[in-house]
Amino acid sequence: MPASPNHLSDSQVTVDAIESFAHATDPRMGHVMGLLVKHLHAFVAESHLTKAEWLKGLEFLTAAAKITTDERNEFSLFSDVMGISSMVDVVSQPPGGTPSSVLGPFHNHDSNVRANGCDLTDGQAGERVWLHGRVLDVHQNPIAHAQIDFWQNADNGLYPAQDSAQDPQNLRCKLVCDEKGEFNLLTIRPHPYTVPTDGPVGALLAASNRNIWRPAHYHVIVSAPGYVGLVTELFPAGSDYIDNDTVFGVRPGLIVDVKPCQDSEVANRFGLTTPFKQVAFDFCLVKQA
Ligand SMILES: [Fe+2]
Repeated sequence: MPASPNHLSDSQVTVDAIESFAHATDPRMGHVMGLLVKHLHAFVAESHLTKAEWLKGLEFLTAAAKITTDERNEFSLFSDVMGISSMVDVVSQPPGGTPSSVLGPFHNHDSNVRANGCDLTDGQAGERVWLHGRVLDVHQNPIAHAQIDFWQNADNGLYPAQDSAQDPQNLRCKLVCDEKGEFNLLTIRPHPYTVPTDGPVGALLAASNRNIWRPAHYHVIVSAPGYVGLVTELFPAGSDYIDNDTVFGVRPGLIVDVKPCQDSEVANRFGLTTPFKQVAFDFCLVKQA
């Protein structure tokens, strides 16, 4: 039966809504918005979304806006637990380099620059881990003076932004690799932690009977002039939740062994006794096109 002249067909609504973005000043923006409309309309049609469910979705977004601050972004968390952040990582990653992974909410642009070979432990609790490796190009050549931006949580599982007892610069730093692309620092073993559950995303995870934990990880951003910057994480093997990361950040190539180390020079430098624990990992950057 043909549609009543007083009622648009559902497909005409979609066509018209996509067309409404066709003349955007930024053509890429218009293209992306048109695709977003296309797929959101398909979702509404396929799910036969009710008005009550649509209103519930709006209430969710409103609650996310109310709890979002400069320090805590519920929309970013929503993107993470929906796997969108990881999908953006996957589709935007240039081939050949170290896998990227989610940035997470606790990165601080203002981390202090520390010397290569620094000790971040500063007398705090936690199993000492010597983290070291190289920054290489896709041909395994070292990238001299690449920059490492590093951060992690403390032995209580909290980041400084969650724990006023910690110095804001605790267990984070920027450092510059040497001419051979080598870096090293002393830190502690990171711990699994839960994503924030006091907002609408937490309610969504609870209603979905979903895990709220992330496995233990180190956060690292690696950059060098002329290369595509890498935002990634290293996951100590055997950590709880490594097979069930609530933000889908684990990649097989980012799982690292925490192994005993007998290097007495390193032990003396950091005041450790052998054997101590080490993580060795080489990052690989892809040249900018
Ligand atoms: Fe994290």
